[in-house]
Amino acid sequence: MTQHFIVIGNPIAHSKSPKIHTLFAEQAGIDISYHRQYCPDDEASFTAVVEAFFCGGGMGANVTVPFKQVAYDCCLSRGGLSEHANVAGAVNTLLLDKSLLDKGVPVTQALYGDNTDGQGLVNHMSSLGWPLAGARVALIGAGGAARGVILPLIEAGVTRLTLANRTLSKATALVTELSSASATIDKHQIETCRTADLSGSFDMIINATSIGLSDDKLPLHDDLSCQHAYDLMYGRALPFLQHFAARGAQISDGYGMLIGQAALSFERWTGHCIDVEKATAMLTESTEK
Ligand code: ATR
Repeated sequence: MTQHFIVIGNPIAHSKSPKIHTLFAEQAGIDISYHRQYCPDDEASFTAVVEAFFCGGGMGANVTVPFKQVAYDCCLSRGGLSEHANVAGAVNTLLLDKSLLDKGVPVTQALYGDNTDGQGLVNHMSSLGWPLAGARVALIGAGGAARGVILPLIEAGVTRLTLANRTLSKATALVTELSSASATIDKHQIETCRTADLSGSFDMIINATSIGLSDDKLPLHDDLSCQHAYDLMYGRALPFLQHFAARGAQISDGYGMLIGQAALSFERWTGHCIDVEKATAMLTESTEK
């Protein structure tokens, strides 16, 4: 029987998710349909789309910009959230909570929200052979993207985390908020600074700002170095990565994270584990053709 999935966003025409999940389904040997679902940018429309999809027999949905926080609110009031979604304050993976359905709770009150973005990043770094256990990591940015990766990085064993942001107060507020939301996050483990003041040597520097969408450049200190530099963005030239590549660092954009988070969503929905490296190689090959 065909299992139905969607990705909800606005805009959504560019989404690579249908191609990625179709490849996963071929690898797993199961029959799925996976479609892009446009939604007007308001909470009532989002809720209507989600309810119609799940009441109509849908198995799972991915959520992308600008709905990840709306999806969090929706699950908070109509079901439940994983710890990663709760700490991230955002949901990228929606499914139905079977334990609630078994108790007779209606579909519209049995939504379950997870967030696989941060674990997708951690899994990608591990497949690159970039060790996180005991690593000293600088994370630049204090918006939604940074928020989603902090707990998974700490769970992966990062011992010292420096959170740098253009607006320092947003970084310090984020640390206070996350350390009270999760017992795993100790605020003494995370120091904060302004991006322009970030200096010294790190095992890894991660760019979680949205600067790659503009022509601006991050004000990077002359005395800032790392072995590995990662940008959560992908699909465009990223001056942040060029800066550190020119100084001898290994670099990666966020394409592997995109596939990693998708694989975790797929596993959550279907129970099938994905060979992410094999899938990435096939997707890269088909994009280059
Ligand atoms: P969200 O992800 O929550 O939507 P955002 O407004 O897109 O947040 O911003 C994401 C991050 O990129 C923030 O850390 C932001 O810095 P501020 O908190 O100081 O606004 C950072 N950012 C965006 N544009 C930037 C720029 N031109 N220079 C430096 N940092 C920038």
